[in-house]
Amino acid sequence: MNVLFLSPGFPTEMTDFVRGLAEVGANVIGLGDQAEGNVPDKARNALAAYYQVSFGDPAAIIETALAIASRIRVDRVESLWEPLMIMAARLREELGLPGMTVVETVPFRDKEAMKQVLDEAGVRTPHHYRARTSYEVRHALERIGFPAIVKPIAGAGSADTYRINDASQAEAVIGVLGHIDEVSVEEFVDGEEFTFDTICAGGRILFHNMCWYRPRPLIGKQNEWISQQTVVLRNPDVDHLAAGAQMGQRVLEAMSFRDGFTHMEWYLKPDGEAVFGEIGARPPGGRTVDAMNFASDIDLFRWWAEAIVNGRIKDRLERKYNCSTVFKRAIGDGSIQGYSGLDRLLAEFGQYVAAVELNPIGAPRRNWRQQLIGDGMVVIRHPDLQSCIDIADRFGTDFQIYAG
Ligand SMILES: Nc1ncnc2c1ncn2[C@@H]1O[C@H](COP(=O)(O)OP(=O)(O)O)[C@@H](O)[C@H]1O
Ligand SMILES: [Mg+2]
Repeated sequence: MNVLFLSPGFPTEMTDFVRGLAEVGANVIGLGDQAEGNVPDKARNALAAYYQVSFGDPAAIIETALAIASRIRVDRVESLWEPLMIMAARLREELGLPGMTVVETVPFRDKEAMKQVLDEAGVRTPHHYRARTSYEVRHALERIGFPAIVKPIAGAGSADTYRINDASQAEAVIGVLGHIDEVSVEEFVDGEEFTFDTICAGGRILFHNMCWYRPRPLIGKQNEWISQQTVVLRNPDVDHLAAGAQMGQRVLEAMSFRDGFTHMEWYLKPDGEAVFGEIGARPPGGRTVDAMNFASDIDLFRWWAEAIVNGRIKDRLERKYNCSTVFKRAIGDGSIQGYSGLDRLLAEFGQYVAAVELNPIGAPRRNWRQQLIGDGMVVIRHPDLQSCIDIADRFGTDFQIYAG
Protein backbone atom coordinates (compact mmCIF):
# COMPACT_ATOMS: atom_id res chain seq x y z
CA MET A 1 0.00 0.00 0.00
CA ASN A 2 1.29 3.47 -0.93
CA VAL A 3 0.47 6.07 1.70
CA LEU A 4 0.88 9.81 1.22
CA PHE A 5 1.62 11.14 4.73
CA LEU A 6 1.37 14.81 5.58
CA SER A 7 4.07 16.28 7.81
CA PRO A 8 6.06 13.12 8.61
CA GLY A 9 8.63 15.01 10.72
CA PHE A 10 6.51 17.31 12.87
CA PRO A 11 5.12 17.22 15.57
CA THR A 12 7.44 14.62 17.15
CA GLU A 13 4.78 11.89 17.38
CA MET A 14 4.45 11.85 13.58
CA THR A 15 7.88 10.25 13.21
CA ASP A 16 6.59 7.22 15.10
CA PHE A 17 3.41 6.93 13.04
CA VAL A 18 5.57 6.92 9.89
CA ARG A 19 7.81 4.29 11.44
CA GLY A 20 4.70 2.21 12.28
CA LEU A 21 3.46 2.40 8.69
CA ALA A 22 6.82 1.26 7.32
CA GLU A 23 6.95 -1.60 9.85
CA VAL A 24 3.64 -2.99 8.63
CA GLY A 25 4.87 -2.89 5.05
CA ALA A 26 3.45 0.37 3.70
CA ASN A 27 5.37 2.47 1.25
CA VAL A 28 5.27 5.95 2.80
CA ILE A 29 5.63 9.10 0.76
CA GLY A 30 6.16 12.15 2.96
CA LEU A 31 4.83 15.61 2.17
CA GLY A 32 6.11 18.19 4.64
CA ASP A 33 7.19 21.78 5.03
CA GLN A 34 10.56 20.94 6.55
CA ALA A 35 13.68 20.74 4.42
CA GLU A 36 14.42 17.04 3.90
CA GLY A 37 17.59 17.34 5.96
CA ASN A 38 15.56 18.54 8.95
CA VAL A 39 13.15 15.62 8.96
CA PRO A 40 14.16 13.53 12.01
CA ASP A 41 16.01 10.31 11.15
CA LYS A 42 13.28 8.05 12.53
CA ALA A 43 10.85 9.36 9.92
CA ARG A 44 13.38 9.82 7.13
CA ASN A 45 14.58 6.23 7.41
CA ALA A 46 10.99 5.02 7.13
CA LEU A 47 10.08 7.12 4.08
CA ALA A 48 10.24 5.85 0.50
CA ALA A 49 10.27 9.45 -0.76
CA TYR A 50 9.88 12.98 0.57
CA TYR A 51 8.61 16.16 -1.04
CA GLN A 52 8.95 19.59 0.53
CA VAL A 53 5.93 21.89 0.20
CA SER A 54 4.68 25.02 1.93
CA PHE A 55 1.65 24.32 4.11
CA GLY A 56 0.57 27.90 3.48
CA ASP A 57 0.13 27.16 -0.24
CA PRO A 58 -2.69 24.63 -0.71
CA ALA A 59 -2.65 24.92 -4.52
CA ALA A 60 1.02 23.91 -4.61
CA ILE A 61 0.37 20.98 -2.26
CA ILE A 62 -2.40 19.70 -4.53
CA GLU A 63 -0.17 20.14 -7.57
CA THR A 64 2.64 18.17 -5.90
CA ALA A 65 0.24 15.40 -4.84
CA LEU A 66 -1.20 15.14 -8.37
CA ALA A 67 2.33 14.94 -9.80
CA ILE A 68 3.18 12.12 -7.37
CA ALA A 69 -0.07 10.32 -8.24
CA SER A 70 0.75 10.54 -11.95
CA ARG A 71 3.90 8.52 -11.33
CA ILE A 72 2.78 5.97 -8.71
CA ARG A 73 -0.54 4.68 -7.45
CA VAL A 74 -1.44 6.48 -4.21
CA ASP A 75 -3.78 4.37 -2.05
CA ARG A 76 -4.32 6.61 0.95
CA VAL A 77 -3.69 10.09 2.29
CA GLU A 78 -3.04 10.21 6.04
CA SER A 79 -2.64 13.07 8.46
CA LEU A 80 -2.73 12.93 12.24
CA TRP A 81 -2.04 16.59 12.89
CA GLU A 82 -5.03 18.84 13.49
CA PRO A 83 -4.06 21.82 11.29
CA LEU A 84 -3.70 19.55 8.24
CA MET A 85 -6.89 17.50 8.54
CA ILE A 86 -8.82 19.56 5.98
CA MET A 87 -5.86 19.60 3.60
CA ALA A 88 -5.67 15.80 3.77
CA ALA A 89 -9.39 15.57 2.99
CA ARG A 90 -8.98 17.90 0.00
CA LEU A 91 -6.16 15.75 -1.33
CA ARG A 92 -8.30 12.60 -1.02
CA GLU A 93 -11.00 14.29 -3.04
CA GLU A 94 -8.55 15.52 -5.67
CA LEU A 95 -7.00 12.07 -6.00
CA GLY A 96 -10.35 10.23 -5.81
CA LEU A 97 -9.33 8.22 -2.74
CA PRO A 98 -11.41 6.68 0.03
CA GLY A 99 -11.29 8.12 3.53
CA MET A 100 -12.70 11.25 5.10
CA THR A 101 -14.02 13.95 2.78
CA VAL A 102 -13.93 17.69 3.48
CA VAL A 103 -17.61 17.65 4.45
CA GLU A 104 -16.97 14.80 6.88
CA THR A 105 -13.87 16.50 8.31
CA VAL A 106 -15.36 19.95 9.02
CA PRO A 107 -17.45 18.77 12.02
CA PHE A 108 -14.22 17.48 13.60
CA ARG A 109 -12.67 20.94 13.29
CA ASP A 110 -15.54 23.38 13.87
CA LYS A 111 -16.85 23.05 17.41
CA GLU A 112 -20.30 24.35 16.51
CA ALA A 113 -20.74 22.16 13.41
CA MET A 114 -19.59 19.26 15.63
CA LYS A 115 -22.25 19.86 18.26
CA GLN A 116 -24.95 20.37 15.63
CA VAL A 117 -24.29 16.92 14.16
CA LEU A 118 -24.38 15.44 17.66
CA ASP A 119 -27.51 17.34 18.72
CA GLU A 120 -29.28 15.83 15.73
CA ALA A 121 -28.13 12.39 16.84
CA GLY A 122 -29.45 13.01 20.37
CA VAL A 123 -26.04 13.19 22.08
CA ARG A 124 -25.96 15.37 25.22
CA THR A 125 -23.88 18.46 24.37
CA PRO A 126 -23.61 21.60 26.50
CA HIS A 127 -26.22 24.20 25.59
CA HIS A 128 -24.34 26.18 22.93
CA TYR A 129 -24.34 28.98 20.34
CA ARG A 130 -22.00 30.23 17.66
CA ALA A 131 -21.12 33.94 17.99
CA ARG A 132 -19.25 36.28 15.64
CA THR A 133 -19.85 39.67 17.28
CA SER A 134 -20.02 41.12 20.81
CA TYR A 135 -23.76 41.41 20.34
CA GLU A 136 -24.03 37.70 19.50
CA VAL A 137 -21.90 36.76 22.53
CA ARG A 138 -24.15 38.80 24.86
CA HIS A 139 -27.27 37.38 23.24
CA ALA A 140 -25.97 33.81 23.65
CA LEU A 141 -25.11 34.48 27.31
CA GLU A 142 -28.63 35.76 27.93
CA ARG A 143 -30.07 32.50 26.68
CA ILE A 144 -27.52 30.22 28.38
CA GLY A 145 -27.15 32.01 31.73
CA PHE A 146 -24.12 31.89 34.05
CA PRO A 147 -21.68 30.32 34.50
CA ALA A 148 -20.79 29.98 30.83
CA ILE A 149 -17.76 29.26 28.68
CA VAL A 150 -16.52 31.22 25.70
CA LYS A 151 -13.91 29.58 23.46
CA PRO A 152 -12.65 29.75 19.87
CA ILE A 153 -14.58 27.70 17.34
CA ALA A 154 -11.38 25.91 16.26
CA GLY A 155 -9.31 26.27 19.43
CA ALA A 156 -6.71 24.02 21.03
CA GLY A 157 -4.96 23.71 24.37
CA SER A 158 -7.55 25.85 26.21
CA ALA A 159 -6.18 28.94 24.43
CA ASP A 160 -8.50 31.98 24.62
CA THR A 161 -10.99 29.97 26.68
CA TYR A 162 -12.84 31.75 29.48
CA ARG A 163 -15.27 30.81 32.19
CA ILE A 164 -17.75 33.66 32.70
CA ASN A 165 -19.58 33.92 36.01
CA ASP A 166 -21.49 37.21 35.64
CA ALA A 167 -22.26 40.13 33.36
CA SER A 168 -19.22 42.18 34.34
CA GLN A 169 -16.88 39.26 33.59
CA ALA A 170 -18.71 38.87 30.28
CA GLU A 171 -17.85 42.44 29.32
CA ALA A 172 -14.21 41.96 30.34
CA VAL A 173 -13.95 38.82 28.20
CA ILE A 174 -15.71 40.41 25.23
CA GLY A 175 -13.07 43.14 25.46
CA VAL A 176 -10.22 40.68 24.82
CA LEU A 177 -11.85 38.53 22.13
CA GLY A 178 -11.17 40.98 19.32
CA HIS A 179 -8.57 38.82 17.57
CA ILE A 180 -10.88 35.79 17.32
CA ASP A 181 -13.32 35.61 14.39
CA GLU A 182 -15.79 33.18 15.84
CA VAL A 183 -16.45 31.69 19.25
CA SER A 184 -18.56 28.98 20.80
CA VAL A 185 -20.58 30.15 23.81
CA GLU A 186 -21.51 27.22 26.04
CA GLU A 187 -23.23 26.30 29.24
CA PHE A 188 -20.51 25.65 31.85
CA VAL A 189 -20.59 21.97 32.74
CA ASP A 190 -19.38 21.21 36.25
CA GLY A 191 -17.66 17.88 36.85
CA GLU A 192 -14.60 15.77 36.11
CA GLU A 193 -13.03 15.60 32.68
CA PHE A 194 -12.17 12.42 30.79
CA THR A 195 -11.21 11.31 27.30
CA PHE A 196 -12.42 8.47 25.12
CA ASP A 197 -9.80 7.60 22.53
CA THR A 198 -10.02 4.96 19.84
CA ILE A 199 -8.37 3.32 16.88
CA CYS A 200 -11.00 2.26 14.36
CA ALA A 201 -11.08 0.37 11.07
CA GLY A 202 -14.10 0.11 8.81
CA GLY A 203 -16.18 1.91 11.46
CA ARG A 204 -15.36 -0.67 14.15
CA ILE A 205 -13.54 0.22 17.36
CA LEU A 206 -10.42 -1.97 17.54
CA PHE A 207 -8.87 -0.27 20.56
CA HIS A 208 -10.25 2.13 23.14
CA ASN A 209 -8.75 4.13 25.97
CA MET A 210 -9.82 6.56 28.66
CA CYS A 211 -7.78 9.27 30.35
CA TRP A 212 -8.64 11.34 33.38
CA TYR A 213 -7.43 14.95 33.38
CA ARG A 214 -6.28 16.16 36.81
CA PRO A 215 -7.31 18.90 37.29
CA ARG A 216 -9.63 20.05 34.48
CA PRO A 217 -7.42 21.54 31.73
CA LEU A 218 -8.87 25.04 32.03
CA ILE A 219 -7.97 25.13 35.74
CA GLY A 220 -4.45 23.91 34.94
CA LYS A 221 -4.15 26.55 32.25
CA GLN A 222 -5.12 29.37 34.62
CA ASN A 223 -2.86 28.45 37.54
CA GLU A 224 0.86 28.44 36.89
CA TRP A 225 1.72 26.48 40.05
CA ILE A 226 -0.28 23.43 38.99
CA SER A 227 1.49 20.35 37.63
CA GLN A 228 -1.20 19.12 35.24
CA GLN A 229 -1.66 15.36 34.94
CA THR A 230 -3.09 13.14 32.22
CA VAL A 231 -3.87 9.74 33.71
CA VAL A 232 -4.35 6.81 31.32
CA LEU A 233 -6.77 4.54 33.14
CA ARG A 234 -5.91 0.88 33.33
CA ASN A 235 -9.59 0.03 33.39
CA PRO A 236 -11.63 2.22 31.04
CA ASP A 237 -14.61 -0.13 31.39
CA VAL A 238 -15.60 0.58 35.00
CA ASP A 239 -19.30 1.20 35.63
CA HIS A 240 -19.05 4.86 36.63
CA LEU A 241 -17.40 5.75 33.28
CA ALA A 242 -19.69 3.59 31.11
CA ALA A 243 -21.86 6.57 30.12
CA GLY A 244 -18.78 8.19 28.52
CA ALA A 245 -17.85 5.07 26.56
CA GLN A 246 -21.42 4.68 25.30
CA MET A 247 -21.47 8.33 24.30
CA GLY A 248 -18.14 7.86 22.53
CA GLN A 249 -19.54 5.07 20.36
CA ARG A 250 -22.62 7.07 19.46
CA VAL A 251 -20.49 10.09 18.61
CA LEU A 252 -18.31 8.06 16.23
CA GLU A 253 -21.42 6.69 14.52
CA ALA A 254 -23.04 10.11 14.27
CA MET A 255 -19.87 11.55 12.75
CA SER A 256 -19.53 8.59 10.32
CA PHE A 257 -15.98 7.93 11.48
CA ARG A 258 -14.40 4.84 9.92
CA ASP A 259 -10.60 4.56 10.01
CA GLY A 260 -7.85 5.86 12.25
CA PHE A 261 -7.34 7.50 15.62
CA THR A 262 -9.95 9.54 17.49
CA HIS A 263 -9.70 11.63 20.64
CA MET A 264 -12.91 12.67 22.41
CA GLU A 265 -13.18 14.68 25.62
CA TRP A 266 -16.23 14.46 27.86
CA TYR A 267 -17.44 15.65 31.24
CA LEU A 268 -18.82 13.49 34.05
CA LYS A 269 -21.22 15.49 36.17
CA PRO A 270 -21.59 14.78 39.91
CA ASP A 271 -25.02 13.23 39.20
CA GLY A 272 -23.41 10.70 36.80
CA GLU A 273 -24.56 12.32 33.55
CA ALA A 274 -22.01 12.30 30.71
CA VAL A 275 -21.77 15.49 28.61
CA PHE A 276 -19.91 15.77 25.33
CA GLY A 277 -16.82 18.03 25.25
CA GLU A 278 -15.10 17.82 21.87
CA ILE A 279 -13.67 15.31 19.41
CA GLY A 280 -10.72 15.22 17.02
CA ALA A 281 -10.11 12.76 14.18
CA ARG A 282 -6.56 12.33 15.41
CA PRO A 283 -4.66 10.95 18.40
CA PRO A 284 -4.56 12.89 21.67
CA GLY A 285 -1.61 15.28 22.02
CA GLY A 286 0.52 15.96 25.10
CA ARG A 287 2.49 12.76 24.52
CA THR A 288 -0.58 10.75 25.54
CA VAL A 289 0.03 8.03 22.94
CA ASP A 290 3.35 7.34 24.69
CA ALA A 291 1.53 7.12 28.02
CA MET A 292 -1.04 4.74 26.51
CA ASN A 293 1.87 2.60 25.30
CA PHE A 294 3.47 2.61 28.76
CA ALA A 295 0.13 1.59 30.29
CA SER A 296 0.03 -1.69 28.39
CA ASP A 297 3.58 -2.17 27.03
CA ILE A 298 2.31 -1.84 23.48
CA ASP A 299 3.14 0.16 20.35
CA LEU A 300 0.03 2.07 19.33
CA PHE A 301 1.89 3.86 16.56
CA ARG A 302 2.22 0.50 14.91
CA TRP A 303 -1.28 -0.63 15.92
CA TRP A 304 -2.70 2.45 14.22
CA ALA A 305 -0.67 1.65 11.09
CA GLU A 306 -1.93 -1.95 11.12
CA ALA A 307 -5.51 -0.73 11.41
CA ILE A 308 -4.98 1.61 8.44
CA VAL A 309 -3.15 -0.88 6.23
CA ASN A 310 -4.73 -4.22 7.19
CA GLY A 311 -8.02 -3.18 8.79
CA ARG A 312 -7.24 -5.13 11.95
CA ILE A 313 -4.85 -5.30 14.91
CA LYS A 314 -3.37 -8.70 15.56
CA ASP A 315 -1.65 -8.18 18.94
CA ARG A 316 -3.61 -8.93 22.09
CA LEU A 317 -4.19 -6.13 24.57
CA GLU A 318 -3.37 -6.67 28.22
CA ARG A 319 -3.99 -3.55 30.30
CA LYS A 320 -1.25 -3.56 32.95
CA TYR A 321 -0.92 -0.13 34.53
CA ASN A 322 -2.54 3.19 35.19
CA CYS A 323 -0.14 5.72 33.75
CA SER A 324 0.06 9.37 34.76
CA THR A 325 2.08 11.97 32.90
CA VAL A 326 2.94 14.86 35.23
CA PHE A 327 3.79 18.11 33.42
CA LYS A 328 6.13 20.51 35.24
CA ARG A 329 6.52 24.27 34.96
CA ALA A 330 9.71 25.92 36.17
CA ILE A 331 9.55 28.44 39.00
CA GLY A 332 11.09 31.78 38.03
CA ASP A 333 12.03 33.37 34.71
CA GLY A 334 15.07 33.09 32.49
CA SER A 335 16.90 29.81 31.95
CA ILE A 336 16.75 26.51 33.82
CA GLN A 337 19.06 26.59 36.87
CA GLY A 338 18.36 23.31 38.62
CA TYR A 339 15.99 20.64 39.86
CA SER A 340 15.08 19.93 43.45
CA GLY A 341 13.56 16.85 45.05
CA LEU A 342 13.90 14.62 42.01
CA ASP A 343 16.69 12.39 43.31
CA ARG A 344 14.87 11.65 46.53
CA LEU A 345 11.64 10.81 44.68
CA LEU A 346 13.47 8.58 42.22
CA ALA A 347 15.11 6.74 45.11
CA GLU A 348 11.71 6.14 46.66
CA PHE A 349 9.56 5.50 43.57
CA GLY A 350 12.05 4.73 40.79
CA GLN A 351 10.44 1.40 39.94
CA TYR A 352 7.19 3.19 39.05
CA VAL A 353 8.79 5.85 36.87
CA ALA A 354 8.50 4.99 33.18
CA ALA A 355 10.12 8.15 31.79
CA VAL A 356 11.60 11.49 32.81
CA GLU A 357 12.14 14.21 30.22
CA LEU A 358 13.33 17.58 31.46
CA ASN A 359 14.17 20.89 29.90
CA PRO A 360 17.99 20.82 30.38
CA ILE A 361 19.95 23.11 32.67
CA GLY A 362 20.82 26.30 30.83
CA ALA A 363 17.93 26.04 28.34
CA PRO A 364 15.44 28.92 28.24
CA ARG A 365 12.36 28.39 30.35
CA ARG A 366 9.44 27.36 28.13
CA ASN A 367 6.18 29.24 27.85
CA TRP A 368 3.71 27.23 29.92
CA ARG A 369 0.80 29.21 28.52
CA GLN A 370 1.52 28.02 25.00
CA GLN A 371 2.17 24.34 25.47
CA LEU A 372 1.20 21.59 27.85
CA ILE A 373 4.55 19.88 28.30
CA GLY A 374 6.14 22.91 29.97
CA ASP A 375 9.65 22.37 31.34
CA GLY A 376 9.45 18.66 31.72
CA MET A 377 7.39 15.59 32.29
CA VAL A 378 7.55 12.56 34.53
CA VAL A 379 5.61 9.43 33.60
CA ILE A 380 4.42 7.28 36.51
CA ARG A 381 2.82 3.86 36.16
CA HIS A 382 1.30 1.58 38.74
CA PRO A 383 -1.24 -1.27 38.52
CA ASP A 384 -3.35 0.37 41.25
CA LEU A 385 -5.03 3.69 40.40
CA GLN A 386 -4.86 5.27 43.85
CA SER A 387 -1.16 4.39 44.19
CA CYS A 388 -0.50 5.79 40.71
CA ILE A 389 -2.05 9.17 41.49
CA ASP A 390 -0.53 9.32 44.98
CA ILE A 391 2.95 8.89 43.48
CA ALA A 392 2.16 11.28 40.62
CA ASP A 393 1.01 13.89 43.15
CA ARG A 394 4.31 13.57 45.02
CA PHE A 395 6.13 14.43 41.76
CA GLY A 396 3.69 17.31 41.41
CA THR A 397 4.47 18.79 44.82
CA ASP A 398 7.93 17.58 45.91
CA PHE A 399 9.79 17.99 42.62
CA GLN A 400 10.51 21.52 41.41
CA ILE A 401 12.38 22.99 38.48
CA TYR A 402 14.01 26.39 39.02
CA ALA A 403 14.73 29.05 36.44
CA GLY A 404 16.55 32.30 36.89
N1 LIG B 1 -18.83 23.81 28.37
C1 LIG B 1 -17.78 23.70 29.21
N2 LIG B 1 -17.98 23.50 30.53
C2 LIG B 1 -16.94 23.43 31.39
N3 LIG B 1 -15.66 23.52 31.01
C3 LIG B 1 -15.39 23.70 29.70
C4 LIG B 1 -16.43 23.79 28.73
N4 LIG B 1 -15.86 23.97 27.53
C5 LIG B 1 -14.52 24.00 27.73
N5 LIG B 1 -14.23 23.84 29.04
C6 LIG B 1 -12.90 23.82 29.66
O1 LIG B 1 -11.96 24.37 28.75
C7 LIG B 1 -11.04 23.35 28.31
C8 LIG B 1 -10.72 23.57 26.85
O2 LIG B 1 -11.90 23.43 26.07
P1 LIG B 1 -11.99 22.43 24.86
O3 LIG B 1 -13.36 22.53 24.29
O4 LIG B 1 -11.54 21.08 25.29
O5 LIG B 1 -11.00 23.09 23.80
P2 LIG B 1 -9.47 22.83 23.42
O6 LIG B 1 -8.96 21.65 24.25
O7 LIG B 1 -9.54 22.51 21.96
O8 LIG B 1 -8.80 24.11 23.73
C9 LIG B 1 -11.73 22.05 28.63
O9 LIG B 1 -10.80 21.01 28.81
C10 LIG B 1 -12.49 22.40 29.92
O10 LIG B 1 -11.62 22.35 31.05
MG1 LIG C 1 -9.88 19.99 24.76
